[in-house]
Amino acid sequence: MPLTIRKAIFPVGGLGTRFLPATKSMPKEMLPIVDKPLIQYAVEEAVEAGIEEFIFVTGRGKSAIEDHFDHAYELQEMLEKRNKTAALKVVKDSIPKPGQIAYTRQLEPLGLGHAIWCARNFVGSEPVAVLLADDLILSENGCLKQMIEAYNQVGGNMVAVMEVEKYQTSSYGIVTPGNIKNSLIEVLDLIEKPKESEAPSNLAVIGRYILQPNIFNDLSRFEKGTGGEIQLTDSIARQVGLEPLNGFKFDGQRFDCGSKIGFLEANIAYALRREDLREPIQQFIQKMI
Ligand code: UTP
Repeated sequence: MPLTIRKAIFPVGGLGTRFLPATKSMPKEMLPIVDKPLIQYAVEEAVEAGIEEFIFVTGRGKSAIEDHFDHAYELQEMLEKRNKTAALKVVKDSIPKPGQIAYTRQLEPLGLGHAIWCARNFVGSEPVAVLLADDLILSENGCLKQMIEAYNQVGGNMVAVMEVEKYQTSSYGIVTPGNIKNSLIEVLDLIEKPKESEAPSNLAVIGRYILQPNIFNDLSRFEKGTGGEIQLTDSIARQVGLEPLNGFKFDGQRFDCGSKIGFLEANIAYALRREDLREPIQQFIQKMI
């Protein structure tokens, strides 16, 4: 059986330019879906999957994330005094145990591959999960949990994949598929943001990965790819032949919360699942259209 996945990297060093001006002084990962920041959904998904250590790769202007996962003594005291027990529980429940979270800074946003490389000393020589908080996945069983269950059968590197429209391939890493067995798709190659005419399939990589530690050697080449950024998918592709690489077709609905439309759709979808919000939001939508 492959080594247990105990650690997860949360790269949160991006600039979030698609959400300016909201992200000028606030991290994109703190944008709320209904009432919970994106990054908390990602951490909860990791907890559900059995992750014990959380490694955040941050950057300038991201300290709100550190504060979010810490005590807020004044607020907690006030809530206690006012007998707001439910709210107090919500605030306290988001705090991990001391030493469970580590933070490192990317210093410069040179790309997702570079962000992952920055976490190398915290990961050491074991496999690690990566979660991009702006990819929010609504599912019965968390996406990472599903992936780890599959990983425990096959090991190697693994990327979450989903079908996209052909015209959307230029926004994603796209896989060249080999054998398909249930949810697992053998990946023969991976290409970052190909033009529609050059895309080998419409299977796109989204923000959940399981990576073997060898990836850090490749990332340390600092090879720039599409957009002049150090691309994680390029390094994963170069591991083909050295490690098995599988795409995992997860059960669930993914929202690209790094885009405005995905963010708005996620807010509506999550609100519709909430008992306290379903009816009023349904009524509002009906009235608007
Ligand atoms: P995006 O491609 O969404 O980039 O990054 P971005 O900068 O966050 O947002 P836009 O495109 O300017 O609006 C995908 C993920 O990779 C992380 C981001 O934080 C996000 O989780 N990332 C990206 C880094 O941590 N560092 C980088 O240098 C680039």
